[in-house]
Amino acid sequence: MELLDFARGPALTIAFAIFAIGVAWRLSSLLFTPRPHRRAEAREGTPSDAKAFVRGVFSRFIPHKTYRDVVFANHLNAYVFHIGLFIVVFLYRPHILFIEGFTGLSWPALPNTLVYGVGLVTVVSLGVALARRMTNPVQKILTTFDDYFSWALTVLPVLTGLLVVNGIGARYETLLALHILSVCALLIWLPFGKLMHTFLFVLSRGVTSVRLSRRGATF
Ligand code: HEM
Ligand code: HEM
Repeated sequence: MELLDFARGPALTIAFAIFAIGVAWRLSSLLFTPRPHRRAEAREGTPSDAKAFVRGVFSRFIPHKTYRDVVFANHLNAYVFHIGLFIVVFLYRPHILFIEGFTGLSWPALPNTLVYGVGLVTVVSLGVALARRMTNPVQKILTTFDDYFSWALTVLPVLTGLLVVNGIGARYETLLALHILSVCALLIWLPFGKLMHTFLFVLSRGVTSVRLSRRGATF
């Protein structure tokens, strides 16, 4: 079997299965874990849990004013590569055709050259995030293997995608196979490392907000 057939066929199927089962398993293990009984009364004026939850999820899209100046560049950079990833994955014609193939859903694409430009910006932006992680004294202390590995698996599909369309390094079929295999690696790892924040950010922000709101914190 050709490498490309393997990547497009069994590899992608197995990776999607591990991704779906892994995400479902991690979310259900959190949602169905019994919660500790609350012994303390909530402070007077505490918003309802639902309100505190929603407020916590959305308020964190902008840094708290106390930290705004310190984290501004980092925060902006994180927006750049997340939005970049979204654009290259969901607004590129070949990807939309791929998604349409198994969901039947389709939507307008951006011009290819624009997507390649965004891909380049995304790689640079991820590079900036890595450089900061390796030089900022506090971030350095907090960084673990998961941070580097997750970073590498995030950047690889973008890099290999750009190599495919520019025909750099090998035959088109080989590059495409490597591109798809790098996506497989990302899908397999996502549920088990910090990239699970794709789903967990809602729970972690919401639950933290509910707990702190009951103690009188305002957001
Ligand atoms: C600028 C960045 C990227 C470029 C230029 C790019 C380019 C491509 C190209 C040319 C194909 C072949 C489509 C075909 O068979 O006709 C492809 C396939 C694919 N790409 Fe990307 N890609 C990029 C980033 C990504 C990222 C970040 C992901 C996911 C994390 C991704 C996921 C996929 C998948 C799942 C396929 C499989 C399609 C199939 O089996 O036909 N790509 N990509
Ligand atoms: C809705 C979904 C997502 C949200 C809300 C989100 C949010 C965040 C936030 C708040 C950070 C911290 C940024 C900072 O340091 O200021 C972060 C970091 C990061 N995210 Fe996401 N994320 C999402 C999806 C994803 C996906 C799908 C990927 C890749 C597959 C990804 C890759 C990363 C990486 C690699 C970092 C760490 C960058 C570093 O080393 O500092 N994220 N994300």
